[in-house]
Amino acid sequence: MSAQPRVHILFSHDEIKATVRRLAAEIKKDYQARDPLLIGILTGSFMFMADLIRLLDFPLEVEFVRLSSYGRGRQSSGKVRVVKGLTSSVKGRDVLIIEDIVDTGLTTSFLLDYLRKKKPASLKLCALTDKPSRRQTPVIIDYLGFTVPDKFLVGYGLDWDEKFRNLPDICYLEVEE
Ligand code: IMP
Repeated sequence: MSAQPRVHILFSHDEIKATVRRLAAEIKKDYQARDPLLIGILTGSFMFMADLIRLLDFPLEVEFVRLSSYGRGRQSSGKVRVVKGLTSSVKGRDVLIIEDIVDTGLTTSFLLDYLRKKKPASLKLCALTDKPSRRQTPVIIDYLGFTVPDKFLVGYGLDWDEKFRNLPDICYLEVEE
C-alpha cells in the first residue's frame, strides 16, 4: 500500500480570518483611492483572493494568471512560463499580486519581472504565506500573512497533487511510511 499522508493543522481558519482581516486593513489604507488591479496566481490563491476582496470596500479589479514551471513534483526547475495571461492592461495601473505561498521565490520573481515590463504605475506583492528557508531568489513581500516552517502545506487553496485545496485550515502533511 502506498504511504498515506497525515494532515496536521498549522493555522486554523479563525487564525487565517484574523490575518486576512489585518492584510485587508493594510491594503485598504494604501490602495483605497487608487482603483488597483489585483492579480491572483492560479490555482492556489483563489480562496485567499475571494476572502480578501470581500473585505476591500472600494473600487478595484481582479484578474488571475496561471503560471507553470517546467519541473515535476515539488521541485521547481526554475523555468516559469505563462499558461493563462492577462486580459486587461497593466500599463499605468497600481498592480498588487496576490499569492498563496512564496517558496523558492522563482514563480513570484518571474511574475514581478513579467509585469514590470508592462509598465504598471506601481507593483507590489501580497503573500498569505512565506517559506523563507527555501528561497532561491530574493523576493520582497510587501504584505505578508504568515511566515511558515519548511513543511509541505495544504488547505485554504494549497494542494498536494491537486488534493486538499478545500480544507478550511492551513495544514502540513506528514507522510507515514
Ligand atoms: P515557488 O516558485 O517555489 O516560490 O513556488 C510557488 C508555488 O509553488 C506556489 O504558488 C505553490 O503553488 C507551490 N508551492 C510551494 N510550496 C508549497 C507548499 O508547501 N504547498 C503547496 N504548494 C506549494
